[in-house]
Amino acid sequence: MAEQSLSSSPPPAAAGGGGSGGSSSVRPPAVYTIGYAMLPNKHDTFVQPSFIDLAAQHGIRCVAVDASRPLVEQGPFDLVVHKLYGQPWRAQLEAYSVLHPDIPIIDPPANIERILDRLTMLDVVSGLDSVAVPRQVIVHDAGAPLQLVDDDAVLGDLRFPLIAKPVEADGSAASHNLCLVYRREGLRGLRAPLVLQEFVNHGGVLFKVYVVGDHATCVTRSSLPYVPHERLQDLTADAAVPFANISLLAPTTAVGDESAKVPPPQEFVDKVARELGRAVGLHLINFDLIRTMDAQGDAKYLVLDINYCPGYSKMPGFEPVLTEFFLEMLRSRPVRDDRPGPGAGLGVDEARKAEAEPTSVIPSGAEPRQLVQA
Ligand SMILES: Nc1ncnc2c1ncn2[C@@H]1O[C@H](COP(=O)(O)OP(=O)(O)O)[C@@H](O)[C@H]1O
Ligand SMILES: [Mg+2]
Repeated sequence: MAEQSLSSSPPPAAAGGGGSGGSSSVRPPAVYTIGYAMLPNKHDTFVQPSFIDLAAQHGIRCVAVDASRPLVEQGPFDLVVHKLYGQPWRAQLEAYSVLHPDIPIIDPPANIERILDRLTMLDVVSGLDSVAVPRQVIVHDAGAPLQLVDDDAVLGDLRFPLIAKPVEADGSAASHNLCLVYRREGLRGLRAPLVLQEFVNHGGVLFKVYVVGDHATCVTRSSLPYVPHERLQDLTADAAVPFANISLLAPTTAVGDESAKVPPPQEFVDKVARELGRAVGLHLINFDLIRTMDAQGDAKYLVLDINYCPGYSKMPGFEPVLTEFFLEMLRSRPVRDDRPGPGAGLGVDEARKAEAEPTSVIPSGAEPRQLVQA
């Protein structure tokens, strides 16, 4: 994986500017302009003052795209990064690419869409050697969950407990409404289409791996606790328990959990990140990894979930990692003679002003679904 080589502190020439590491007039002019298109509540995935400042120190200004206006009328941009979904937005990107085939779009909409659906999301993982996915079945038919209560055939050899997950994984609040189902009657009341996935005991600890191009950072988070076998037999307890956003919690400090919290070796994290990133064809993702023990007592890793352009502000040191990634993408793009010079030559203060201007990012024609942090 790429070594982190950018510093998050100002370069010596700007050090006298003092303050928050912010606006120094001695900084070099912006060389590149990145247009970012995302809902305002998603700007903090990485468009934070600390990132804007570091990027500005390295000649990058970030400008919010106004997705209510044609993208082709905006810019010039040297790179576009986006986290908006839906056909109208896709059409905007296509039109832009036709006009500016040399401007990188991070990332291809078709590849993003594949991981917005839990049916297709984990397909790509099935082909990898180093990790597996939990066993699962898809329930398409609206009447099916009820039928499942009496019918063994659909569940096949899946064992309780199961996790019921909505098919859509687009970050909307509804997509995070999951349900831990301890026994058959807990399936009553679930709404199809959904994925029924075997719950895998993993010590209550989740490894969230943030990927930025070739760089991977593993963060330890809380997860669903161990489910003892007796819980499945306890008919006085709830047959199913809904839950949401469990992995946003800090890891539990329960006694005996210490070994479960030891993160996987970095080389392993790098390998999985590299394979997974290539398989999904995306540069900006995170994924949820759990560790369980197989019958031989060896560690086995499973991928549960993949998210596009996640909340990088929760990844320690995200600013230099993202800055370096964008610089690499910008420097390696093909250069054409008929294009206006990179970045339109605005200075850092203009860059910051442009960034602060309020804009709407609702694509015309369709409201993107509201998102919550994945
Ligand atoms: N098959 C599973 N076995 C054990 N725990 C799981 C499983 N699937 C999900 N979880 C737990 O539930 C959390 C949420 O599931 P996930 O598929 O990541 O949905 P979301 O889209 O809400 O992030 C995971 O981070 C993990 O803690
Ligand atoms: Mg998740």
